[in-house]
Amino acid sequence: MSKTPQTKRDFIAEHVRTIPRSGIRDFFDIVQSMENVVSLGIGEPGFVTPWHIREAAIYALERGKTGYTSNFGLLKLRRGISRYVRDNFAVEYDPNTEILVTVGVSEALDIALRATINPGDEVLYHEPCYVSYHPSVVLAHGLAKAIQTRAVDNFALRAEDIAATVTSRTRAIMLNFPTNPTGATLTQGKWKRLRAPAWTTICW
Ligand SMILES: Cc1ncc(COP(=O)(O)O)c(C=O)c1O
Repeated sequence: MSKTPQTKRDFIAEHVRTIPRSGIRDFFDIVQSMENVVSLGIGEPGFVTPWHIREAAIYALERGKTGYTSNFGLLKLRRGISRYVRDNFAVEYDPNTEILVTVGVSEALDIALRATINPGDEVLYHEPCYVSYHPSVVLAHGLAKAIQTRAVDNFALRAEDIAATVTSRTRAIMLNFPTNPTGATLTQGKWKRLRAPAWTTICW
């Protein structure tokens, strides 16, 4: 049993205490407080959400569409997603049973990790990368292990680096291609040659 909390910090779960503050968020907050500075801190489109999307959201509010939907998300939207991934990526997912809508990547990643990782399982991810992957694994009680990629290889994943990081406790690998911030890519054919069969692959 854990000891009785003595300080405010002690109230925070031990695994959460190990997670550092996000430097990019600190930077973003500083830039927000300054006049005439363009913030390149957070990756966002350089345009406002197109009007037809904003209009649809406003119209839905006007019609009182403010209640819960299915936990999977609206079926109409899931059907649209199913068509989109079929037409663009040649993969078939059943909108009734195989698609779940989240508010973004972070929620999807969190759900995927918590659904697949047992405490102490190792999850591999490639660096340099977006800031939240390591903490997401820690929050799911997994052990995050980075695979370094290098400019000289255009930040591609190398089989020997995966092999050097993988152990019998490796449960999953997270793949972010094209990678933020390096722009590295990975083809399906190359991944098939790199991949160990027993892994869960979480990609976006
Ligand atoms: C590569 C990458 N992963 C994850 C995220 C987080 O995405 P979201 O804001 O949809 O949770 C971002 C956001 O910029 C990102 O660039």
